[in-house]
Amino acid sequence: MKFFIDTANLDEIRELATTGLLDGVTTNPTLIAKAGRNMIDAIKEICEVVPGDVSAEVTATEYQSMVREGQRLAKIAKNVVIKVPLTMEGLKACKTFRHEGIKVNVTLCFSAAQALLAAKAGATYISPFVGRLDDIGHDGMALIADIVAMYRNFPQIATEVLVASVRNPGHVVQAAKMGAHVATLPPAVLKQMFQHPLTDKGLKAFLDDWAKTGQSILEAPKAARREQA
Ligand code: E4P
Repeated sequence: MKFFIDTANLDEIRELATTGLLDGVTTNPTLIAKAGRNMIDAIKEICEVVPGDVSAEVTATEYQSMVREGQRLAKIAKNVVIKVPLTMEGLKACKTFRHEGIKVNVTLCFSAAQALLAAKAGATYISPFVGRLDDIGHDGMALIADIVAMYRNFPQIATEVLVASVRNPGHVVQAAKMGAHVATLPPAVLKQMFQHPLTDKGLKAFLDDWAKTGQSILEAPKAARREQA
């Protein structure tokens, strides 16, 4: 399963890129606004830090303008993926981008029917928003299960299921069990995935016991040093 992070904050991206666990980044207009950055500059810098797919979203709502915006964004770097909303205009733009060899992430997907249309439009990624569905009392993960099952019936569908609006590590684990291809994680959720209280407890016990031995892995004991000399 691929892990993307869902942020336009360069400091967070740089920090998490050092783990070597990042396969890409997703942004949206809200995240760009939150980062207080110019979109073109921010996307350019993100693409320099992360070699994987970096989603940049169009802000126009009408086909021709979406295409012009997407073409502009796609010129920023080779790893830019154009994000379009799941509207009729958005899917028309998706088809055009795909004919031009530009990858597309279809975002704001809230139903299996929408996901079917996105696949038909040749989307590289479909982004169902699980957290926002949970927020209104629906079952976000059930949508992921539906889309994965539906796409499996048609091996010619190359669209990858990118689980978005992730709120906790449980969402990621469930998505992986269902066979979703990608999850885009808020940095805090990715950091949470490293955590377990028993890991902290166990590590503390190991280090306390180790300290009692007075040993150091990098420094040879004095006696051994004398023998070497
Ligand atoms: C996905 O690409 C979106 O940017 C994101 O996952 C939305 O998540 P939110 O519901 O936390 O805003």
